[in-house]
Amino acid sequence: MTLKNRLTEIVKKAFSDAGYDESLGVVTFSDRPDLCQFQCNGALTGAKLHRKAPMMIANDVLGNLSDNAIFKSVTVAPPGFINIILSDEFIAEEAKKMEKSERLALPVMDKETIVVDYGGPNVAKPLHVGHLRAAIIGETLKRLARFLGHNVIGDVHLGDWGLQMGLIISELFREKPELCFFDKEYSGQYPEESPVTIDDLSRLYPQASARSKEDEAFRETAMRATFDLQNGRRGYVELWKKFLEVSVADLKKSYARLGVDFDMWLGESDADPYVKPLLEILEEKKLTYLSDGALIADVAEETDDEPMPPVIISKSDGSQLYATTDLATIIQRERDFKPDEIWYVVDSRQSMHFKQVFRLAKKAELVSPETELYHVGFGTMNGSDGKPYKTREGGVMSLSVLIESAKAAAKERIDESETAKNLPGSERDKIAELVGISAIKFGDLINHRTRDYIFDLNRFLSTEGKTGPYLQYTVVRIKSLLAKAEAAGVIPGEIIAPKNDTERELLIKLFSVGDVLLRAFDDKAPNAICEVMFDIAGLFNRFYFENKILANENEAERASWISIVSLVRDMLVTLLDIFSTDVPEIM
Ligand code: ARG
Repeated sequence: MTLKNRLTEIVKKAFSDAGYDESLGVVTFSDRPDLCQFQCNGALTGAKLHRKAPMMIANDVLGNLSDNAIFKSVTVAPPGFINIILSDEFIAEEAKKMEKSERLALPVMDKETIVVDYGGPNVAKPLHVGHLRAAIIGETLKRLARFLGHNVIGDVHLGDWGLQMGLIISELFREKPELCFFDKEYSGQYPEESPVTIDDLSRLYPQASARSKEDEAFRETAMRATFDLQNGRRGYVELWKKFLEVSVADLKKSYARLGVDFDMWLGESDADPYVKPLLEILEEKKLTYLSDGALIADVAEETDDEPMPPVIISKSDGSQLYATTDLATIIQRERDFKPDEIWYVVDSRQSMHFKQVFRLAKKAELVSPETELYHVGFGTMNGSDGKPYKTREGGVMSLSVLIESAKAAAKERIDESETAKNLPGSERDKIAELVGISAIKFGDLINHRTRDYIFDLNRFLSTEGKTGPYLQYTVVRIKSLLAKAEAAGVIPGEIIAPKNDTERELLIKLFSVGDVLLRAFDDKAPNAICEVMFDIAGLFNRFYFENKILANENEAERASWISIVSLVRDMLVTLLDIFSTDVPEIM
């Protein structure tokens, strides 16, 4: 149980012992750290319930709290706040517990199985900035859930089954009709080697897509090819496997740079075997009907205050839609994992799609009523004009170009840095990669996921303000301090009762991390974790500038401070790991 929750238990008991409703005893971290460390506002909310002045309630409760040794003081402030300050000895005990625990005394939840569907790249189309958010928000949430003790399965859910595959097949046929993959009569072995490279794919798709817009006949050919592929035409299936191989190898490289990795590399195509069972279930439960040749299902409810169109399951030509694969994938996930929750980390603009899919999944009982299906929607990354981020030419920016530009800008700073400029070029390059990526990530993740934000590389790269490089820089500073301490023979010792306010505030902040993690998990939003990391880093830096840590003559205090500094490092490194972010040795 977190410290805040333990304090809540104590204060709840004090409320009920004084004859008040115990639910009033909720304790929170103080929003005025200059006045107190924790507060309880229950007397204010309880006034109505108990028809009594808040000050009177608060004073009654106070009588049951004041002789507890864990408190330095408990006071009442008008109009009825209960303000709590912990005793310094108790703070030291808590810090020691944290220090001794391998997971820094952070909470573990009751284990659930959670599938996180994130990334969602489309095969044969290069990753663009739109995929950035899905990748980094999803990865962070997956790691957070795992850290809190859940069984988490991350699935990339590739877009590998739609019209884009038929488009590429048809475009390749125009260029190389002689390939055996196109020969219907061919019955031999297909070559091992792929007939296309990733560069070919990146060229073929836009070419095909443009052609299909002008050339009706080409579009029909591509639709036909898609249909043939989905119905198992041997040469097309083999060709498609090659596209997938080449594309996935490339995707893995880009994701690895961002520290993103998936447990499952399944795609929409893997849902195909479940489409038939899905159609049967829907029919058996009488949820579908024909309308203009299309098979559709109603999901509107009486209480809806927005129009809720029916879900289209298949069109008159028999082709399946986005909702069909998502529903079929739910059957697959239920069969393979029996998840308690499935999280879909996908652009908020797809919210209608997910509402429809979730409703139909429940109506058709593809999952139990308790299974939580959750669309973790996110806003867009915008350029300085406030519109979705584009290249200078107005096109979609590829993710690798974005990463390279962040890295190049980070490199310029590293090349000028006093501490790093004399390192060999390859070392500086590695640092630039770490710093550039963390700039992009924290520039994004500091915002609540549902908000749009403006991509501002200069600001994101600054070592001041709420940025990734600031966090990395703080850890570098801590590591260098600890290395100096070691070299000077100053060894860490028992954490003793804090004597100054910054030290107290820093430790109390560390005690709040567990609550922040739980809240971030509930809200499926990592920004609160970023905030607490910046708070910790800020308090540490204040502590560092206010005190001469290594030169402190009081040996016990100096040894305690070194332990606290290592604790801060461990906490920041643990949290950075949830963000899949490493720290360079020097910056
Ligand atoms: N491939 C889709 C796109 O690019 C995203 C897939 C999201 N996940 C899902 N289960 N629908 O829009």
